[in-house]
Amino acid sequence: MKLSVDYNINNVGDVVTLNGWVAKVRNLGGVIFIDLRDRSGIMQLVIKPESSVYDLANTLHNEYVISIKGKIVKRESVNKNIPTGEIEVEVSDLKLLNKSLEIPFALTDDTTALEDTRLKYRYLDLRRSALNKNLVLRHKIMMVTRNYFDSLGFIEVETPMLCKSTPEGARDYLVPSRISKGKFYALPQSPQIFKQLLMVGGIIRYFQITKCFRDEDLRADRQPEFTQIDMEMSFTSEDEVMDVTEKLIAKIFKEVKGIDIKLPLIKMKWDEAMSIYGSDKPDLRFDLPIKDITNIFSNTNIEFMKGVEVNAIVVNDKASDFSRKEIDKLTEFVKTYKASGLAFLKMDTELTGSIAKLFSDEEKNTLIKELDLKDNDIVFIVSGKKNIVKSSLGALRIKLGHDLNLIQDGDYKLLWVVDFPSFEWSEEEGRFMAMHHPFTAPKDEDIDKLINDKEHCYSKAYDIVINGYEAGGGSIRIHDEKVQEKMFEALELTEEQIKNKFGFFVDALKYGTPPHGGLAIGLDRLTMILAGTDNIRDVIAFPKTASASDLMSDAPSVVDSAQLKELGIKVSE
Ligand code: AMO
Repeated sequence: MKLSVDYNINNVGDVVTLNGWVAKVRNLGGVIFIDLRDRSGIMQLVIKPESSVYDLANTLHNEYVISIKGKIVKRESVNKNIPTGEIEVEVSDLKLLNKSLEIPFALTDDTTALEDTRLKYRYLDLRRSALNKNLVLRHKIMMVTRNYFDSLGFIEVETPMLCKSTPEGARDYLVPSRISKGKFYALPQSPQIFKQLLMVGGIIRYFQITKCFRDEDLRADRQPEFTQIDMEMSFTSEDEVMDVTEKLIAKIFKEVKGIDIKLPLIKMKWDEAMSIYGSDKPDLRFDLPIKDITNIFSNTNIEFMKGVEVNAIVVNDKASDFSRKEIDKLTEFVKTYKASGLAFLKMDTELTGSIAKLFSDEEKNTLIKELDLKDNDIVFIVSGKKNIVKSSLGALRIKLGHDLNLIQDGDYKLLWVVDFPSFEWSEEEGRFMAMHHPFTAPKDEDIDKLINDKEHCYSKAYDIVINGYEAGGGSIRIHDEKVQEKMFEALELTEEQIKNKFGFFVDALKYGTPPHGGLAIGLDRLTMILAGTDNIRDVIAFPKTASASDLMSDAPSVVDSAQLKELGIKVSE
């Protein structure tokens, strides 16, 4: 099937058939101009008064479905904004295939319709080129992915959707069983356990493009059901998994966007990412590093800097751009990240600003020297608990990067963040929890730290980060029963809990499990980045809202009481 954009000035004189929707009808002094829209774009149709289909053309309205035949001619006035702008079709045959109700919003790229309205009528919204070109992009990414993995001897294997609850971070979506009343399946948060079992099963190289389900707080880059490009390989290493992955990502960038990505990607240790960028997914499209200036204040008299972490961000040559009001707004901003406040200093031959008078001369001089301050530089300082200082300045860094327009359009910065800690401290639970899942292998040299020195135990885990988004993540898994036992012990899991949660899996690992590791890329996120949008819904055909509902079908919805009865479920008020 040929679409509008398949034709250009070289086709003048050709007689063609096109099918699509009426995007616009204009009757200019007798001649009717119709914009015919198909998935590829717009073709202008011309129907002259002497044409046998003129009367029918006069009855057409927006979104009527038509089929036409006609001759391609050169346009008198070229439209440079569309690919078919040099040509038009003189219609000889016209068939009206279907009519349409009046549409609730204009299907133009610059539509001002509210997103809720667009989601309610998603099937109409999908006709807009802004959306359907994202679906084409997504399709191409999937095609490149499948061909790539196939060429490397990976096979695509489907894994179940009705599963046992998996040991991953988010809440499960549960599905009640009718046959086993009172029992539930969980929808997979990822195919993690199954892909490891496929390695036990001798598949050696697996991949799958598959749906995952997580009942977690939603953000602009998160959906309750999303898609992973999931992979796992046996007899492998961290370096090999990263190599295979980054070559796929580079291929996708090249084949779908024509962009060259320089390989190998840089690898940044998690500690360094957190320390300099205050984030495990640093956006490297701009600089603004976080500077640790704690040592300058080791003997300070400033109350809020005594004995705590003190870090700064310097913005060069912009001090005069920050009014008091703007700094107040930034202070409110860092407070949302639990920072107790935001101090600032401006360099104007000497240091001025909120806290300058509290500083000793020595502190001032060392600060100027260490931060290499010049006139019109501004320094933002947060002090307090290390993790709060880092995360609030990390968030401030991103905000400043955007507010100060430091990001160039079309710039892509990719990197690996490696050497994640095995554990993170949970204030809520008052204990160390697995930072990834409990099957993530610790670094060989850190195995003994699993029990005695959790804080300094690092894992063979890695994330691929693109423009500040976590585009994918994975790890080498534990294949040694003894190490796995140690890990469970470290996580303070009882025999009973281990058996209940992942008994079958732990058993499987005892039957000759090969060393293995893998990774999953968030397909929606990757597509979103390549589509140049920051809204994940723009790259999903039928997405959910931030409250996890589908405005079109009205899911989730109340179900028939008979259905509930059959499942043995009673809904409490
Ligand atoms: P992880 O949980 O890091 O790893 O997920 C892998 C990637 O999936 C994407 N992602 C999401 N995208 C949209 N909405 C969400 N709610 C969402 N959650 C995650 C991210 C993320 O990097 N089984 C492991 C992978 C492995 O170890 O092999 C896993 O699922 O881009």
